[in-house]
Amino acid sequence: MAYFEKLNYTLSNEDTRVEYALLPPGAKRVFAIAGSGARVLPLIARNPEELEIVDLSRAQLDLCELRVAAARALSYPEFLFFLGYRGGIAAPAEVETDVSDDRMALFQRLELSPSCREFWLSCAAQWQPRGFILLGKWESHFQALGKLFRQGFRMNFRPIFEAQSLEEQQALYRKHWKPTLFRNFLRMAASELVFNKFLYHGHFSGASAVKTESRPPWKFLDDEFRRLFTTKLVRKNYFLQVLFLGGIHFEEGLPLEARPEIVEAVRASRTRLVTTQGNLLEVLPTKPFDFLSLSDTISYLPEDAATELLQKLHPATPAGSRAVIRSFLRAPTQLRQDGWELDTQECRKAFERDGTGVYRFFIYRKTAG
Ligand SMILES: C[S@@+](CC[C@H](N)C(=O)[O-])C[C@H]1O[C@@H](n2cnc3c(N)ncnc32)[C@H](O)[C@@H]1O
Repeated sequence: MAYFEKLNYTLSNEDTRVEYALLPPGAKRVFAIAGSGARVLPLIARNPEELEIVDLSRAQLDLCELRVAAARALSYPEFLFFLGYRGGIAAPAEVETDVSDDRMALFQRLELSPSCREFWLSCAAQWQPRGFILLGKWESHFQALGKLFRQGFRMNFRPIFEAQSLEEQQALYRKHWKPTLFRNFLRMAASELVFNKFLYHGHFSGASAVKTESRPPWKFLDDEFRRLFTTKLVRKNYFLQVLFLGGIHFEEGLPLEARPEIVEAVRASRTRLVTTQGNLLEVLPTKPFDFLSLSDTISYLPEDAATELLQKLHPATPAGSRAVIRSFLRAPTQLRQDGWELDTQECRKAFERDGTGVYRFFIYRKTAG
């Protein structure tokens, strides 16, 4: 699919606390769509015996390889700086004159395959100044939209993010949020036309011809953002910080991959990594996986392939295996479930845990071995 050929995602709009909570430590064989790689690091932190990382896009796999290598080779402060979560590395107390830090010097310490090294060297001018996490097409698009809104409509979300309790945040939300303005902006920015023209090149899963969500995208987003801003402390949410502030300004909102305990666990993990560039439909049937982290890829599959997905998994897939599927506006409502059940309790828990608000979860459990 043409849309997935370039570096589209560099941070992840997926709150990986969901998968992390569901994957038991030491699982045998895990399947993960690479995407930005930010969902993959917490899976490695769970130390499965084998992790198969798959993506159609070479660039996304190169980003995933880079993330893993950085977590393994760099100290925690170096890792945050290298990826772009921080703008510098705090100097030791004894240092008198501090200088700017050097991402290229950190890059040179990473153990990478030759093709991955070559890819990142070929675009060093892009990542050296600010790191990687906001480079993707998706992240750039939403940063630009957010900036347009903040400047064009003079809307400042910062005071809401500064709240340190939910009560304070709710009061600041009532004071600073401009609901009509925001809704009108969403009608334009979250229209099918804009999504397709600037991001998905005709493959937007929320297009009216394919979506299962009854609300139009702008209404869905308006409802979900209101829910998040009135029920969760947004300074702890990296996704909302990127959309509404243009970057991650409050470290208590760092995504799971950037938490010290996860980086530490990735470093300690002994997981065997297998990387495959290809279509998940071809890789999934090749081996029995006991955990599948499928991102929202099912929304982009042709109807018949999506329907048969669970049935095409390897016949030796053990009972109790789980498949975690996200969907944005186009839910996998037609999956044939023979031998599997939808774990509605876990779906609800995932929805409540998820900080993005944009996904619905479909978590399946294999019932027969
Ligand atoms: C569906 S996108 C969503 C991105 C994601 N939300 C993130 O934060 O990284 C995830 C990744 O799936 C890959 N992908 C989409 N369809 C695929 C398929 N049929 N087989 C393998 N990879 C696929 C894309 O290249 C992309 O990198």
